Amino acid sequence: MQVVIIYESLTGTTETAARLIANQFYVRHVGSKIYPVGGFDPDAIAEADVVIAGSWTDGLFFVGQKPAKRKKFSKLPEMDGKKCVVFCTYAIDPGKTLDKFTKVLEERGADVLGGLAIKRTNLADGAVDFVDRVMAVAPV
Ligand SMILES: Cc1cc2nc3c(=O)[nH]c(=O)nc-3n(C[C@H](O)[C@H](O)[C@H](O)COP(=O)(O)O)c2cc1C
Repeated sequence: MQVVIIYESLTGTTETAARLIANQFYVRHVGSKIYPVGGFDPDAIAEADVVIAGSWTDGLFFVGQKPAKRKKFSKLPEMDGKKCVVFCTYAIDPGKTLDKFTKVLEERGADVLGGLAIKRTNLADGAVDFVDRVMAVAPV
């Protein structure tokens, strides 16, 4: 299985989560490539078995939460039927961030299999949990 991870990060938390997720794939003998959303490789996405998209929660903390830089993710290539899984990092309450993120990717044609909100103080455990879930829904 080849995994591509695409992330958006303002202060580094989501990038750290993305790298911890890549490491969890590595220890399970699954290769991954990782890109900031502004610098993705369309060929890598086309070749990937699973695309993972991660962003941070942007909102008013208790209302209006959404994935940061949704517009950048809406510029991903068409991913007709491509298996995708989303994650977000958050401080207090992610609200409906994952649902909104799922919609953005579905609009690109992706088949979004699930998602996980990872608290910014619990990135390492979140990465393990996330990769466990990906392996369950998209087995090698
Ligand atoms: C402008 C702004 C708005 C935010 N809004 C929320 C929010 O509504 N809910 C929440 O739980 N965290 C919120 N956060 C916290 C971030 O989502 C969290 O710290 C995240 O892990 C940051 O990721 P990054 O370091 O990759 O940018 C907000 C942060 C910023 C800068």
